[in-house]
Amino acid sequence: MDGGFNFGLEASHHLHSGYSHSVTRSWQGDSTILKSQLIYPIFVTDEQNKKNEIKSLPGQYQISPDLLVEFLKPLVAKGLKSVILFGVLINSAKDEVGSMASSKDSPVVHSIQLIRQNFPDLCIVCDVCLCAYTSHGHCGILDTENKIDNQKSIKRLGEMSLLLAQTGANVIAPSDMMDCRVSEIKRVLFANGFGGKVSVMAYSSKFASCFYGPFRDAASSGAKFGDRSAYQLPPPSRGLAIRAAERDEKEGADFVMVKPAGPYLDIIRDVKNAVKVPVACYQVSGEYAMLYHAAAAGAFNLQSAVLESLISLKRAGCDIYITYFTPNLLDWLPL
Ligand code: PBG
Ligand code: ZN
Repeated sequence: MDGGFNFGLEASHHLHSGYSHSVTRSWQGDSTILKSQLIYPIFVTDEQNKKNEIKSLPGQYQISPDLLVEFLKPLVAKGLKSVILFGVLINSAKDEVGSMASSKDSPVVHSIQLIRQNFPDLCIVCDVCLCAYTSHGHCGILDTENKIDNQKSIKRLGEMSLLLAQTGANVIAPSDMMDCRVSEIKRVLFANGFGGKVSVMAYSSKFASCFYGPFRDAASSGAKFGDRSAYQLPPPSRGLAIRAAERDEKEGADFVMVKPAGPYLDIIRDVKNAVKVPVACYQVSGEYAMLYHAAAAGAFNLQSAVLESLISLKRAGCDIYITYFTPNLLDWLPL
């Protein structure tokens, strides 16, 4: 009892001994994030010779395909391994069924061709959704009551996916939240000889979130009326989020996703425990904007905040990070 230290009772209350040295600290949890686990979102337009900074996403651009190779060169040199492409229509007409989504003239098709020629090893993920191509801005085909017609919608997603696979996409990433789209896309891929080559990353647990605000600017994909709450998940729902991931895994998804990421860490953990496929987490446009603006206002150092935000995702169970901070991370991460 000398010195007021009762070993029998109190040793286990003393934690500093386990992390007082930088090396013992490194034993307390895995903080490795590999460059190969990052996916960089890129907005490609139907314009020419144009690179427009996106106001609500400072440091991110809408870029025309002819400038894409020069844009990617320095990033690939720093270790960029994967991009996810989003098509943006500025000149082309949109219609009720999103015809441009499955046209050989779509900016995503042109971009895949150029990337394939110039960076044969880059892994090309393609967002598959109709909202950037429909006149009404909804993610699927609408019926006469302006409700989603699921059958017609997933048929269109199958057509879009096949064209992207034929052009050279490696991963099809349906982000629309239509029911049973993974089985339809898989069916189409297998029927056309892409079954064992092109994978599906399902945006499975995708919530109806205000954190997508800046993205809808970037992709000019906002709904002209109504909102997406009849197909994207209600933010308080845990059950639907887990059922969606389990369903998509059963339908053959190679990867599932949780989106947004930071505000849904509990869901990432639940999904990680529920499925056997790797879990991707999308740190969305609003999360990027929050961190960017807070750092710019002097609240914290950007690098520390971004790395901490990703380590939180890792702790929750994340295997793949989709983040607009990828160019910065290529400078910050060792491998
Ligand atoms: C399209 C899509 C969205 C995002 C990715 N794919 C927007 C939406 O569902 O309205 C959001 C990405 C981001 O906010 O960074 N369905
Ligand atoms: Zn959409």
